[in-house]
Amino acid sequence: MSEQHFETPALLDRALADSISEQLQTAIAARGEATLVVSGGSTPKGLFAELTNRALDWSKVTILLADERWVAMEHNDRNEAMLRERLLSGHASAATLLSLAALYPDVEGNLAQLRAQLDALPSFDVVVLGMGGDSHTASLFPCSAEIQEGLSTHEAALMTNPTTAPHARVSLSRQRLANTRCGIVHIVGADKLAVIEKARGAQASTAPIAAFLTPETDFTVWYAPKD
Ligand code: 6PG
Repeated sequence: MSEQHFETPALLDRALADSISEQLQTAIAARGEATLVVSGGSTPKGLFAELTNRALDWSKVTILLADERWVAMEHNDRNEAMLRERLLSGHASAATLLSLAALYPDVEGNLAQLRAQLDALPSFDVVVLGMGGDSHTASLFPCSAEIQEGLSTHEAALMTNPTTAPHARVSLSRQRLANTRCGIVHIVGADKLAVIEKARGAQASTAPIAAFLTPETDFTVWYAPKD
């Protein structure tokens, strides 16, 4: 149940980028490759800018998102578009991106291909989750009919349909996200910290982030107040 608090988002982004690049380098040295899972939304943009400056052998790194909005390739709401622009540049442009929605709009074909790709990957090295004000994480939304499935399925990915946010989503499942050497919940703003504190010990079906704050999953919360 550890938390790392920083005075500003910029200080957090720098320290988190240092920590992530160290862990990726350790993984590459030990196993010849590394896998980094990141989240969409606005919170990680500064982190991505920091990471692009870190000189490591990005050609050995696979990057994927924790979730994707089920929209056409060129749609602005695609997390992948933001990722390509903000993370896959500078040094990090040498990384391999695993798309969660490569076969859009073929839901079944996409899910089958994605699950097979995820099953072929070893434990992730680093997973960085974001969180919304309703305590959703990745696209495991408390309002969605698929929340129990997302929390309990042994499949690596599923489709979800939030009622409080736009677009159907493809999301990694709780089980696949938790299969990582290092798990981080990255939040900015006192309102989000209050959500985390309330979620500790709560039912994951009503507060999905709680599924990553158990003694077994034990993701570390990295927090800074807003500027
Ligand atoms: C997404 C996500 C989602 C996000 C939170 C926080 O696709 O939107 O991956 O889980 O991390 O909604 O979003 P913000 O960082 O914008 O607050």
